[in-house]
Amino acid sequence: MATGERLETLLATAGCEADGPSRDVTPPLHLSTTFERGPDGDYPGGYVYSREGNPTRALLERTLAKAEGGEACAAFASGMAACNALITAVCPGGHLLVPHDVYHGLRHVIETTWREWGLRVTAVDYSGDWEEAIQPDTRLVWIETPSNPLVQITDIEAVSVAARARGIPTAVDSTWNTPLITQPLALGATYVIHSATKYLGGHSDLLGGAVVGSGTAVESVYHVQKHGGAVMDPFSAWLVLRGMRSLPARLRVQCASAEAIARFLDAHAMVQRVHYPSLESHAGHAVAQRQMQMWGGMLSFEIDGGRSAALALTGKFRHFRRATSLGGTESLVEHRASVEPEPPTSPEGLLRISVGLEHVDDLLEDLGQALS
Ligand SMILES: Cc1ncc(COP(=O)(O)O)c(C=O)c1O
Repeated sequence: MATGERLETLLATAGCEADGPSRDVTPPLHLSTTFERGPDGDYPGGYVYSREGNPTRALLERTLAKAEGGEACAAFASGMAACNALITAVCPGGHLLVPHDVYHGLRHVIETTWREWGLRVTAVDYSGDWEEAIQPDTRLVWIETPSNPLVQITDIEAVSVAARARGIPTAVDSTWNTPLITQPLALGATYVIHSATKYLGGHSDLLGGAVVGSGTAVESVYHVQKHGGAVMDPFSAWLVLRGMRSLPARLRVQCASAEAIARFLDAHAMVQRVHYPSLESHAGHAVAQRQMQMWGGMLSFEIDGGRSAALALTGKFRHFRRATSLGGTESLVEHRASVEPEPPTSPEGLLRISVGLEHVDDLLEDLGQALS
């Protein structure tokens, strides 16, 4: 970031550095898949073929790298494509540590595909003796914080320092946080991963993913991006850039509403437990206070009566839409156990909420009437 330029300022003008002959104030969209050589055979525009590099995607990659305090970023067709590219690049024939409650999509691909390719994986609890699981060929330590859907907090700095002391890189899936809430690279992580489908895009209308880090760290990821081919398409990159311009404003409202909802649910007689890091009772409260600038727009809560009671409750909502995913302008509610592969790791009576931009009083009234 330029001197005196705060993250909000960078994001408010995300990618608006284009200054072509028409002097656009927002970036143009480059859909061309191929770029013309000059008479001498060179590529004067710097681009050859869009799988290898595209001006719109490159603009997003530069902007996101800057926002995360990194040097390089590789953007992918989805968050899962980003996760798979990082594992392909960093873990060939080795061992990987993941949190025991890692995003179920990653758990699934590890169990169904990566094990077949010889990847050995140990699921750990980073609040326990996780270092004992490190093996001589552990190639990557994977962190996801807050976790999904139990909103557990991992101390990024402590884990990154311990891993680095053994020469092992750390990757933080920061999808729920965005650079506005936590900056994993500044805390010592080697890579930041995003599903740009969520808060970065912010409008539930695109799929995207990204890996950010130093130039050296991301070099092998670029190789997989270009030759593996799961690149982010130019229109999605353009939409992510547009989404990032309003990210700070959106996230502030979403976090404030999530906090009010968490307090409301915590005090409600029908609710057994609320998972949100601002609550003093939350096991990760102190770490979250240190490493999160806001408490986040995601929370989950548990009620008595298991799956049938939780599903029945979702049927009563008027504002919360019953859908998977998160980070959009609309509030969503999801019964996680029914979308996870068998056996589900989420409690059967748990509902996860992604808080949108509706008026918080409407959301509170909706929860109140559904729980009454
Ligand atoms: C924490 C986290 N990481 C990665 C992903 C995968 O992202 P995508 O759906 O864009 O492939 C998700 C999707 O829900 C997620 O929640």
